[in-house]
Amino acid sequence: MMMITLPAFTPLEESLFLTLCCRALDNRSEQPILADVMADEIVRVLGYDYEKLHIGTNLMLNATLRAKKLDEVASRFLARHPDAVGLDLGAGLDTRGVRLAPPGTVDWYDVDFPAVAAARERLIPDRANAHVVGADVRDSEWLESLPSDRPAVIVADGLMGFLSGEEFVALLNRLISHFPSGEMVFNSYTPFAIWAVHHSPGTKGVADLIKFPGFKDPHEPESWNPKLKLVEEILLSRDLAQVPSKLRLYYRLQAHSTAWSRKGTIILHYRF
Ligand SMILES: C[S@@+](CC[C@H](N)C(=O)[O-])C[C@H]1O[C@@H](n2cnc3c(N)ncnc32)[C@H](O)[C@@H]1O
Repeated sequence: MMMITLPAFTPLEESLFLTLCCRALDNRSEQPILADVMADEIVRVLGYDYEKLHIGTNLMLNATLRAKKLDEVASRFLARHPDAVGLDLGAGLDTRGVRLAPPGTVDWYDVDFPAVAAARERLIPDRANAHVVGADVRDSEWLESLPSDRPAVIVADGLMGFLSGEEFVALLNRLISHFPSGEMVFNSYTPFAIWAVHHSPGTKGVADLIKFPGFKDPHEPESWNPKLKLVEEILLSRDLAQVPSKLRLYYRLQAHSTAWSRKGTIILHYRF
């Protein structure tokens, strides 16, 4: 196996390894949820020391279940709109476009900082109609080069926490005005979840980078842009089928109350 050494990332860029390693470990587990073979390969080729991240079962399950839910939303959208554009914002080294395997009529854009985009180009084989965009999503220029006459499905997996409330709202507004219509799906945080990121050992490394304050009401973004309509709030704790039995009780207890479930991982799905 040819090993690859990447130039150093900033701490913000480094955060991609947590979710990447969660997917790699899931692939190595007995009953993978996502079965992301490429994530596993990338971690091996980089010789990345994932043990230093102290990834527990709960974190691994959360990251992979959440990726799977986001995949499902994107996949349904692409099945209905074969002419669509797909975006993965803050894509890191995630190969969502490979997992989704959209038809050749779909253009897929993975957006992350230039250093991450360069790493993607070295690690992830080229596919037809897959594009890597090296940019800060808070800037507006990168979006100008994307088609503006096709419906878009926009995924942001693990990005929102790193943007301030204003930056996130501005990004949503730019996306909504660029595309004629589309759907947006991302994992969201309540103020409690933000607090939890700061206080759980698995996420200590990224805690200092978190800028998002979190919000409680999934309808709140509808007030940021009148075109935005909530389609669904997906609470991972309600999704028991894939969870190993020892954790199932915990999730089942959580699922009893929506208020309690919202303290866990929430996925918000909107259309515009
Ligand atoms: C926790 S990682 C998640 C990566 C990937 N979505 C995944 O699930 O593996 C967050 C990613 O967001 C990227 N990111 C954070 N802020 C960004 C910004 N302003 N512009 C572009 N990318 C950003 C980081 O570089 C990092 O790759």
